Amino acid sequence: MSSPLSGKHIVLGITGGIAAYKSALLARLFVKAGAEVQVIMTPSAREFITPLTMSTLTGKPVITEFFTANTGEWHSHVDLGLWADLFVVAPATACTLAKMATGVADNMLVTSYLSTRADVFVAPAMDLDMMAHASTARNLATLRADGVRVIEAAEGELASHLSGKGRMAEPADIVAALEAHIAQAESMSGKHVLITAGPTYERIDPVRFIGNYSSGKMGYALAEAAARRGARVTLVSGPVSCVASHPSVRVVHVESAREMLDAAQAAFTDADVAIMAAAVADYAPATVEDKKVKREHTPEISLTLRANPDIAATLGEARRPGQILVGFALETDNEQANAADKMRRKHLDMIVLNSLRDAGAGFGTDTNKVTVLHADGTTRAYELKSKSEVAEDILNEIEACAH
Ligand code: C5P
Repeated sequence: MSSPLSGKHIVLGITGGIAAYKSALLARLFVKAGAEVQVIMTPSAREFITPLTMSTLTGKPVITEFFTANTGEWHSHVDLGLWADLFVVAPATACTLAKMATGVADNMLVTSYLSTRADVFVAPAMDLDMMAHASTARNLATLRADGVRVIEAAEGELASHLSGKGRMAEPADIVAALEAHIAQAESMSGKHVLITAGPTYERIDPVRFIGNYSSGKMGYALAEAAARRGARVTLVSGPVSCVASHPSVRVVHVESAREMLDAAQAAFTDADVAIMAAAVADYAPATVEDKKVKREHTPEISLTLRANPDIAATLGEARRPGQILVGFALETDNEQANAADKMRRKHLDMIVLNSLRDAGAGFGTDTNKVTVLHADGTTRAYELKSKSEVAEDILNEIEACAH
């Protein structure tokens, strides 16, 4: 059976750590799997393994410098970044992780990293104390939040003869991680995914509205993640400052719950999956003033509010067999019971519960802590993670319930 890496363009970044000797085997496995491999070495990596070894294994000259000194030929980090389908840094030293996390583009490897649109992997390798240092943890957390995948270092004997966490993952395990990633990357191809995101604004008059604090970040992270898996995404978005950058995400901008309902219903007809991540206003003013209400003339006003349609429940009523419908719940008490009840009432397959009690979860933050409940009664609680990682977990849960 051919490897999912067959035909892929892989940039293999090698940095200056003793584990660089394993990069030769890694390059060999990539080539055997049918990939084209371009090696970029940092200057210090050349102290650990020779460019000649790497260029012989990959059949391509190794790049280290921005220019070839004797010919003046410029190596375009932009072209390299765009050429790559996968960008792998193995081994990744503490220094290179720090440069990647902060954008210190003082060598060809980090410059190419900043230019790439490929999926990026790092396989850290360093001594146990460097691995355990707060700054390494901070840089890895930043990289994860930026969408970089970390292939964890293993425990064992280190070059210092100390024993602990810091050994680079074995080349075969790095290849397996990439193969699994590619298989997942195409797991939603051909699917149409509808996502609602952000708040809704309910007009009072031409300049005022009732809204809420939803930032849209969770819905946008889900849209990007589904698109990365090959789905065509319709993102029905209330007013937010997020932007969707993946070309497979079509954003339909709406303002009110009614507009969101219309756009969601239109997209739902041929959707395979619908994820209701929007914080839809529960009520809207019964009448909208067509002129700005003036305080001078109206010392006191009272608004009559009318309940908005429930978009999730409306789609739940209309769903066809095979369509998967997912909701969110933000509860303050009896969380799981209330979320499970909501899932039943709205005819959802799955509900994602985020608790307001957890610091770093919910509105506005870049992180979230969720518990996923399925209609069949299974439940899974996740750790606090970046919203882009939470999006991956949610999509994994959806794909598991589709089988
Ligand atoms: O009932 P509650 O607002 O807590 O339900 C939350 C879930 O229902 C979310 O998935 C939200 O997007 C969806 N919802 C909706 N339309 C509404 C209210 C909530 O789609 N009017």
